[in-house]
Amino acid sequence: MTPQQLLFYCRPGFESDLAGEIVAKASALGWQGYPLAQPQAGHVAFVLTEERPANALHRALPLESLVFARQSLVALEPLEALSRDDRLSPIIEQVVASGWSFESLWQETPDTNDAKALSGLIKALQRPLESMLKKRGALRRKAGGRRLHLLWTDGDRVQLGMSFPGNRSEQPGGIRRLRFPHDAPSRSTLKLEEAWHEFVPRDQWETRLSEGMQAADLGAAPGGWTWQLVKRGMQVYAIDNGPMDRGLMATGLVEHLREDGFVWAPPMRLDWLVCDIVDKPARVIDMVERWLVKRWCREAVFNLKLPMKRRWEAVSEGLARLDRSLSEARVDAEIACRHLYHDREEVTVHVRLFN
Ligand SMILES: C[S@@+](CC[C@H](N)C(=O)[O-])C[C@H]1O[C@@H](n2cnc3c(N)ncnc32)[C@H](O)[C@@H]1O
Repeated sequence: MTPQQLLFYCRPGFESDLAGEIVAKASALGWQGYPLAQPQAGHVAFVLTEERPANALHRALPLESLVFARQSLVALEPLEALSRDDRLSPIIEQVVASGWSFESLWQETPDTNDAKALSGLIKALQRPLESMLKKRGALRRKAGGRRLHLLWTDGDRVQLGMSFPGNRSEQPGGIRRLRFPHDAPSRSTLKLEEAWHEFVPRDQWETRLSEGMQAADLGAAPGGWTWQLVKRGMQVYAIDNGPMDRGLMATGLVEHLREDGFVWAPPMRLDWLVCDIVDKPARVIDMVERWLVKRWCREAVFNLKLPMKRRWEAVSEGLARLDRSLSEARVDAEIACRHLYHDREEVTVHVRLFN
């Protein structure tokens, strides 16, 4: 049995954006298929209509290159109408027929309230599943780091998928849960922290997010993002007409300027630009593009707010334009964009300059 589907998790409400993204990227790579995306389902399948195995497309579409996907799996046909008396046999039979083997088993649900009600069932099934899979040789100590995922969408419906090290989220459900720091001035602080986890490898934090660096935070008030920069020991230009948190100002590391973030220019080259201003994506991109072309910073993290219907189109056009302008200006840069767990109607973009 060759898997003919890819399965992606996403924030509920973003299924059509993820489906649009996958269809566009798969077809640009020469793959034929169609998406299965239900509104508010929190996941999207892409069904191949050709003979090549789905693993090849899975490799060609790395998770880190996708905007709206939280997790990416090679998947089998969903199992439906499972009997209450014996949910496990069809699952075990499908695994054995697929010839798959793994080192671990994760049972998950979409990020919806309905699905969370399945957590008791999932817990009860974990041990019996593991022991039956071990008996059949599908769960072993060494299996290339592969993981079996069971995505339960109802008590009688589950889809089996497999993930591979280096091309998956290591967080259950693809969700990076972070603890809110009690002295941070706003919950937005978690967006910048998650962005760093996503875009800066942990072993590079000491050199790329280090004490004494200089940063600008455009649209900084009340200071959630500035708080993260200050926590890393950076000096920050906080640009906003609104008031900044007093505790943050007392650190002596923040210079608060009541200026327009779209026109303010830094006095020297900075290490980081971050921007959380609520405005049209095209306007934010124009501003960041000016910073990058003039090489006013080495790295940037900024959000694109997406109140519109066709979010994937807005994001892909914006990113393509930024990429084109940087190439034309001979700026050697890496651009990445992800819909983070702490993002709502917005995505986070990271750009790193190399020259
Ligand atoms: C979503 S809030 C930022 C929250 C902040 N990142 C935090 O973590 O606390 C957006 C901010 O952008 C500011 N803003 C809007 N337009 C601006 C502009 N043209 N220049 C500077 N700040 C602006 C608003 O005053 C508001 O404080």
